[in-house]
Amino acid sequence: MPRILVVDDEEAIRSGLAEILVEEGYTVEQAANAEAALARVREELFDLVCTDVRMPGMDGLELVERVKQESPETELIVITGFASLQSAVDAVKRGAEDYLSKPFDLDEVRLTVKRALEKKALRDKQGRLERRVAHLSPGPTLLGRSAAFQRSLQLLDRVAPTSSTVLILGETGTGKELVAREIHRRSPRASEPFIPINCGALPDSLLESELFGYAKGAFTGADKTTQGLFEAADRGTLFLDEIGNISLSMQQRLLRVLEAGELMRLGERKIRKVDVRIVAATNSDLKRDVEKGLFRQDFYYRLRVLSLELPPLRDRMDDLPMLAGHFLQSCAARFHKKIDGFSTASLRALQAHNWPGNIRELENSVEHAAILCVTPLVEVEDLPGELREKAVFCGAAEAAPVSLEALEKLHILKTLRECGGHRGRSAELLGINRRTLYRKLIEYGVAREEGDEDEGDDSPQPASH
Ligand SMILES: Nc1ncnc2c1ncn2[C@@H]1O[C@H](COP(=O)(O)OP(=O)(O)OP(=O)(O)O)[C@@H](O)[C@H]1O
Ligand SMILES: [Mg+2]
Repeated sequence: MPRILVVDDEEAIRSGLAEILVEEGYTVEQAANAEAALARVREELFDLVCTDVRMPGMDGLELVERVKQESPETELIVITGFASLQSAVDAVKRGAEDYLSKPFDLDEVRLTVKRALEKKALRDKQGRLERRVAHLSPGPTLLGRSAAFQRSLQLLDRVAPTSSTVLILGETGTGKELVAREIHRRSPRASEPFIPINCGALPDSLLESELFGYAKGAFTGADKTTQGLFEAADRGTLFLDEIGNISLSMQQRLLRVLEAGELMRLGERKIRKVDVRIVAATNSDLKRDVEKGLFRQDFYYRLRVLSLELPPLRDRMDDLPMLAGHFLQSCAARFHKKIDGFSTASLRALQAHNWPGNIRELENSVEHAAILCVTPLVEVEDLPGELREKAVFCGAAEAAPVSLEALEKLHILKTLRECGGHRGRSAELLGINRRTLYRKLIEYGVAREEGDEDEGDDSPQPASH
């Protein structure tokens, strides 16, 4: 039932209007001045405020402006005496929807209020639809066919439609946030907000005011009553990222909200109900933190009603070619480059790495390669340094069985390449004398038998092997 607040300093007019509206079936409240009205608007969501213009203290025009700031969804109608058109125009300029002139005409009141409320309902519906469309449009997809990842996806399918709390575990860069968004997208809450907050990045006091909201004056700097993220995520999903990093006292406060579904803004006594689904994520070992007394056991049990553990990339290497290919194509499109894929050697180098930074590290490495790449295929040289080094050794591994001699050759050539073909420096690094190095280079076919030795330091870079 729509809630309406009637504001007028004249008791007779105020209650007269309220009576008409109650008869129409609306829930109506009254306020005798603008200050009291504003205080109510901060506490409660009204669909419509009908306010007189001329009042002692704050006038109706200012109230219109303030209500628009505090509660943008609320519609406003101003009540003007003697059909004062000018103040009606001023009010509309400041955000009022319409005006009513005193003395009231019953039909006009009914019609104007009905129109304003219909308009609001339409706008609310449109907002919901827009969000729904945004959620339905394909977001970044969760890629992966490996058995390890498919198990996570199956679990995701089962937990998404519920309203239960979900705890997502996994190393850094394994896709925890992406999975949290997907849970929301596949839930009946998809058309409502998904609000992420990085709990690890904020000190307690800030995290508290962000999550719970606060009344004006609750602390220094609280110059405006503000709703918290729990309220903003009402009917939607709140994603508490890096939950392992919050203090014990914050854990206790959160536990209370999770259990009761109620909260109070800082500096207020009013209890507010919220319907929020919690998805939390962490890369810490919460079980171990509980044992160490760093994490509350009751909060841990409350969070892990359903937990979903994402495998590290090294345990799902089957997915690597597909993931790397996907990131490469998206970079190619972004950089307007034509890149067909990875050379065998470069793909092998990617497969030889153990990816401590998981998918994020892979994404960044591929971007690095896509920027440097000048041929249709990404070559080993385009990869970040660490991976390039791996390539030399996987080149050796390829020639199974690996002989010590082959490894030695690869190592010498790699060192020479890194020294820009500078033999003196290479020999020094390798701990052998220049003659020995020279002999080996002739053996490998990268130095000529005669007259090459003294060209020494300026000799051209050997072809890569
Ligand atoms: N299965 C996947 N398919 C495609 N892209 C993925 C997948 N998983 C993760 N990504 C991408 O990898 C990057 C890292 O993912 P995300 O931010 O979700 O990781 P995270 O686990 O939250 O990391 P952190 O613990 O460091 O916060 C993102 O760019 C994300 O789009
Ligand atoms: Mg994350």
